[in-house]
Amino acid sequence: MITVSQNADVTPQQLDRYARLVYEKIGVTISAQKTTLLSNRLRRRLRALNLDCYDAYYELLRKVAADDPEWDEFLNEVTTHETYLFRDETHWNWLRNVYLPQILLEGRAGRRPKSLRVWSAACSTGDEATSIACCAADRLTPMNEWKIEVFGSDVGAGAVAQARKLTFGERAMRLVPADHKRRFFDRLTDGTHAAKPMLRELVRFETHNLLYPLKQPAFDLIFLKNVLIYFDVASKRKVLETVRRALKPGGMLVTGAAEGVAELIKDMESTSGWLHRSPMRAATASGVRT
Ligand SMILES: C[S@@+](CC[C@H](N)C(=O)[O-])C[C@H]1O[C@@H](n2cnc3c(N)ncnc32)[C@H](O)[C@@H]1O
Repeated sequence: MITVSQNADVTPQQLDRYARLVYEKIGVTISAQKTTLLSNRLRRRLRALNLDCYDAYYELLRKVAADDPEWDEFLNEVTTHETYLFRDETHWNWLRNVYLPQILLEGRAGRRPKSLRVWSAACSTGDEATSIACCAADRLTPMNEWKIEVFGSDVGAGAVAQARKLTFGERAMRLVPADHKRRFFDRLTDGTHAAKPMLRELVRFETHNLLYPLKQPAFDLIFLKNVLIYFDVASKRKVLETVRRALKPGGMLVTGAAEGVAELIKDMESTSGWLHRSPMRAATASGVRT
C-alpha cells in the first residue's frame, strides 16, 4: 500500500483503474504520460479526505452514489479547465465579421426570425459563452429586436458555478477589445471584471455531460472547442452525436482546429478544419435521417 506521505506516483495498475473510472464517467482518456500529474491531483483529494492511499480513494469513489459531490471534486482534479475570453482569434473574426452580419441582413430582410440560439458546449468557467454574448450584443442591432440566447454547459459543477458569476480576472480578459470591456463589463474594486446586466440577460449555464443527449430546443450555432482533444474516437462519436442532434438543420458547428473530427462528420460541409455546417436534414452519426 502506498501512503501519501511517501509522495509516490500511482502504479500502472492504479492508473489504469482510475483512467477507466474517468473514461466511463465523462469519456476523457488518461494516458500513462499523465501518471505524475494524476498522482499529484489525487493526493490533493487524499489529503482533503484524510485518506492514506490511492486504493482507499478509488474504493470510496466506487461506493458513493453517481451524484455524490465527491465525483465532481474528483473530475475537477483530472480535467483541464483552461479557457479565456476571445481564445482563438480566427473564430471570433468569423463570428463578428461573417456569421453575425449575415444573419443580421437575413433578419432585417425577413428571411429568418430575429433570433439566435448558441451553445457553448464544455464551456468551463463561461469565458467562451461570454465572448459569444459580447459579439452578438455588438452586432445584432437594435438588440431589443433580437432574441439572443447563449447557453453554456460543462460537466463540472464547480466550473458551472464559477461561470454563473460572470466575473473574470485580468488574465481571462486580456484579449477582450477595449470597447467591449467598457460597454459590457464593470471593473470591480478587487480588479476583476463583472459582466453588465445587459450581457447577463443573454447567457445561462447548466451542468451537462456531452456523452448524453441535451434536452433543449435546437441551436443555430454550437461551439465545441478544446474538449474533443481529450477523447478517443469512440467518445468523440458519442459527443458528436449529441452535438449534431442539438444543431438546427443548416446550423453551424465551430470546433477547435486540432479536434480531429473530420472523419467523424463526413456528412457535414466543412469549410475549414474548424467550421462545419449541418445538412439541411437532421443527421445521426450513422447517416442522414429521413
Ligand atoms: C479546456 S476546457 C475548454 C473550455 C472552452 N471550450 C475553451 O475552448 O476555452 C475543457 C472542458 O471540457 C469539460 N469536459 C470534459 N469532459 C466533458 C464531458 N464529457 N461533458 C461536458 N464537459 C466536459 C471540462 O470539464 C473542461 O471544463
